[in-house]
Amino acid sequence: MDLVLVGLPGSGKSAVGRRLAQRHGATFVDLDDMIERRVGRPVPAIFADEGEQAFRRYEREAVLSLGPADPDARLRRVIATGGGAVIDPRNRWLLYRGRYPVWLDGPAEALGHRIGRSPNVRPLISGRDPTVAIRELAVARERFYSPALQIGATAPINAIVGVLEHQMAEGPADSVTLMRAETAIGRVEIGHGIASSAISGALRRQHARRAILVADPKTWEVAGAAIADALAADGWPIERVLLPRGEHAKRLRVVEQACRELARLHVDRRETLVAIGGGALTDAAGFVAASYLRGVPIVQVPTTLVGQIDAALGGKTAVDLPEGKNLVGAFHQPVAFVADVSLLATLPPRQLRAALGEAVKMGVLGDERLLELIEEDGEAIAQGDRRPFESGGLAELVERCAWAKVEVVTADERESGLRMTLNLGHTIGHGIEAAAGYSKILHGEAVAYGLRGALAIARALDIVPPERAGRVNALLDRLGLGLTPPPVSPESVAEHMATDKKHALGRLSWVLPTATGVIVRSDVPAEAVAAGLAAGLRLSPINAAVATPAEVSVRP
Ligand SMILES: NC(=O)c1ccc[n+]([C@@H]2O[C@H](COP(=O)([O-])OP(=O)(O)OC[C@H]3O[C@@H](n4cnc5c(N)ncnc54)[C@H](O)[C@@H]3O)[C@@H](O)[C@H]2O)c1
Repeated sequence: MDLVLVGLPGSGKSAVGRRLAQRHGATFVDLDDMIERRVGRPVPAIFADEGEQAFRRYEREAVLSLGPADPDARLRRVIATGGGAVIDPRNRWLLYRGRYPVWLDGPAEALGHRIGRSPNVRPLISGRDPTVAIRELAVARERFYSPALQIGATAPINAIVGVLEHQMAEGPADSVTLMRAETAIGRVEIGHGIASSAISGALRRQHARRAILVADPKTWEVAGAAIADALAADGWPIERVLLPRGEHAKRLRVVEQACRELARLHVDRRETLVAIGGGALTDAAGFVAASYLRGVPIVQVPTTLVGQIDAALGGKTAVDLPEGKNLVGAFHQPVAFVADVSLLATLPPRQLRAALGEAVKMGVLGDERLLELIEEDGEAIAQGDRRPFESGGLAELVERCAWAKVEVVTADERESGLRMTLNLGHTIGHGIEAAAGYSKILHGEAVAYGLRGALAIARALDIVPPERAGRVNALLDRLGLGLTPPPVSPESVAEHMATDKKHALGRLSWVLPTATGVIVRSDVPAEAVAAGLAAGLRLSPINAAVATPAEVSVRP
């Protein structure tokens, strides 16, 4: 077994690691020492000469060079990491999966005091008040450390080693939690194989007396039943409420039936629902939770990629009316959001591919690493290939998208400003979905068309450089998204755009890509809209010329 020590500077990872390794005849590996030996310079010099980014690259190489986790039950290696090694999601995947991660934690004052007395130079702290610097790092990194077993770092070293020896007897878990955060929009947990343990934990924190699982027949078959078995084995009485599959769940009469079922089960106001399914199921179950008894808590457990990177986060719940999609709903934040990437293994490739339309959008909003990741792994993910599951690529994609959404939504829960940027690609995208009757085209596929359209508008207005637009379009090409014209007429799309709910004060607000992110503009001329629509709908130049600005212009 490998034991991995993580924690802030000054938490004593090297000292504890050395002592533990010595007592067990295990090898002690200090990642920073390893980097220094490979690069031939001390860490502060690497920071000074090449910057933090280069250091993180060396760090990632060092983590990779550790090789596979040692499956032996005996302690073979103790690995002490630099305090920032776990910022990188891929490092966490490699360090936490199959290994035994331990977080040496202590109050900022105590760690700051230790650092103040230490001769070691810490690049992110030197020249600053160590306690203040440590406090800032603690806030920024807690979510990365918290999946590891938390142990107080200020006790005497022998006492810490004693606690560790006692705890590590249980060995590494089969599942891996990669990130855990308490946020203003609920607890967020991301990992692999974590669904039942994370649900169980959430129910315990809610003082629940039973597990009320809401799913659809398919998500019950692929995920719900196994989760129910694990929860039952953990002592939870199980209730099951089934809604119809997909968009059919998002009907008012389904909400009524579900609420009546809850009433028959005598579910009271303090009881917590657990939604297990795709975005449609979590939207509908979320609305049930928002309405039943004027609101009961809910744990969202998305089983689709769209659900994990977008739909089940942020508290928007809704059902459809014949007049339009999502017309009746409420903001209702879950008490917990659990993204278990292993649940995506049964998802049909078309669903995975479509979700990448949303993921590319999140990258264009300003996450360069996410764009690179999709360039590297996107095609494999879209084909349902096992490799991105095994390499941690898919988990990294989920974490990057989900956390970006958490940050946007916590800054602007009710979409009065920043949250609107998440609508990139949605103006034309919603128009296409509506024109297609919400049946032939998946949401993420429509967003990809919309993204191409937004890029064309941004090009027409000279907002985005041609290289950036070219890169994103090429990525969509490789993913096979928005390649051929969607089965809708431009007039119908324009018509639906005109009634779009973002159509404020007679003008559409457009979220448009720039070189590094997006801007919102509500002064886009009709010619540019026409160019965007033509590009978004993949019209040939002849057809695009036919779709003149007058024909496709959006009526005020
Ligand atoms: N609330 C929001 O902020 C928000 C954001 C984006 C999308 N949405 C909504 O999400 C919905 C689309 O969600 P979706 O793309 O997840 O599709 P979906 O929920 O319609 O699910 C599609 C199908 O996949 C099945 N399925 C789910 N998980 C599976 C699994 N692991 N293996 C095999 N099959 C599985 C479902 O049974 C369903 O039949 C739309 O209604 C959209 O409006 C909401």
